[in-house]
Amino acid sequence: MDKMWSGRFSASASTLLDQFNASIMYDRKLYREDIEGSIAHATMLAQQGILTAKELKLIENGLLQVKSEIESGEFEWKISDEDLHMGIEKRLTAIIGDTGKKLHTARSRNDQVAVDFRRFVLRKNKEISKALISLMDEIIVVADKHTQTLLPGMTHLQHAQPINFAFHLGAYLSMFKRDIERFESSVKRNNISPLGCAALAGTPHNIDRDKTAELLGFDSVSINCLDTVSDRDFALEILFNISTMMMHISRLSEELVMWSSYEFGFIELSDEYSTGSSIMPQKKNPDVPELLRGKTGRVYGSLMGLLTVMKGLPLAYNKDTQEDKEGVFDAIETAEISLEILKEAIKTMEVKSHNMESACAVGHLSATDLADYLVEKCDVPFREAHFITGRAVAKGEEINVDLSKMEFKYLKEIDDRINEDVMEYLGLKHSMNARISAGGTATKRTLEQLEYFKNYLTSK
Ligand code: ARG
Repeated sequence: MDKMWSGRFSASASTLLDQFNASIMYDRKLYREDIEGSIAHATMLAQQGILTAKELKLIENGLLQVKSEIESGEFEWKISDEDLHMGIEKRLTAIIGDTGKKLHTARSRNDQVAVDFRRFVLRKNKEISKALISLMDEIIVVADKHTQTLLPGMTHLQHAQPINFAFHLGAYLSMFKRDIERFESSVKRNNISPLGCAALAGTPHNIDRDKTAELLGFDSVSINCLDTVSDRDFALEILFNISTMMMHISRLSEELVMWSSYEFGFIELSDEYSTGSSIMPQKKNPDVPELLRGKTGRVYGSLMGLLTVMKGLPLAYNKDTQEDKEGVFDAIETAEISLEILKEAIKTMEVKSHNMESACAVGHLSATDLADYLVEKCDVPFREAHFITGRAVAKGEEINVDLSKMEFKYLKEIDDRINEDVMEYLGLKHSMNARISAGGTATKRTLEQLEYFKNYLTSK
């Protein structure tokens, strides 16, 4: 009968219930937020005359002692305490005596956990944004060296048009910038204090919610307590933000895996970030990007899990909500280590420019340029130009020559309107640099894009 809520019970909880009901083994991660929240709450209670200055001092010192016990590993986390809120409060009371029992005035674990978890998630949104910034920095270091390096741009995984490698990396820079913006906008939207909502309906005590909001760094207080105590949108948002970010990471990883194969040979991951096979001595496997791709699935699972936990919950707090934490913690840890290792893998990989460029020699990458030439120089309607170019490609296939290397006489045979100046158009570098429209691959445009991302990053 040592539970804080045992008043109305006549028998003790079974140990099976303790195991089933407890969250203390994982919610202890929130100890910093919990103690800061309690200090802010007590400070406000003292300001409102609900606690004396002396009681506040006792509580504050007691909580700081609990914090240092947790940090030194002395603190005993007990399943029977159920969750960190009760574990910490119980220890506080053991240290400072009955004054500890006043801390929970005008508060419920419902608003307490909402504060703790929300502040933890907001902090993680910011930390992940920072890690994304340093990943982008690293990608830019590579991109800077490859604004002229050709590789086949693909659609349907088929050779399409020549692009440069920096432009290719720029696509990922765009994705990661959107990811940062998503994390930031979640912080803006959710930086609202639940503290003072108490169990569900507010409290008759003369509290000052603005004060605790200010002390805890929130922008404002929530509008409706019934909503607030069971609002987990902030948790769903970070899961969605991480899922989208991981989807981007997974797409890049897929390319790193393909590029590491003999068939592509575009990059070689460093030994530090590659693994071997237990049976095939020659193997060097890209486990890092493969795992990144795989972990993306697990993160999606957490998003689906929490959406499903929340669906159909009646107002307001229900214990189902306790299932909100583990998936979020797991997704955050996954995001953190993924960003770090991806950054290192990119930093240490070797870019095999020569292989990228030789891959451009097949697949008639400059076919669109021939069609564009016919439109521009010979006034041929694009549809017809497309057909004529198709004939030229068929000829190339027949004589086993890429369009970029085809002799002028064959082209002239196909259409008499074609003149010698076409040869310049069919060159691969020319083709890449011809795509000069805004956002295009031309080196000039690519450099502008890199400049844009650099400015963005320095503004951070
Ligand atoms: N451990 C609980 C959770 O994480 C804290 C809130 C419990 N509130 C309650 N009324 N049982 O959701």
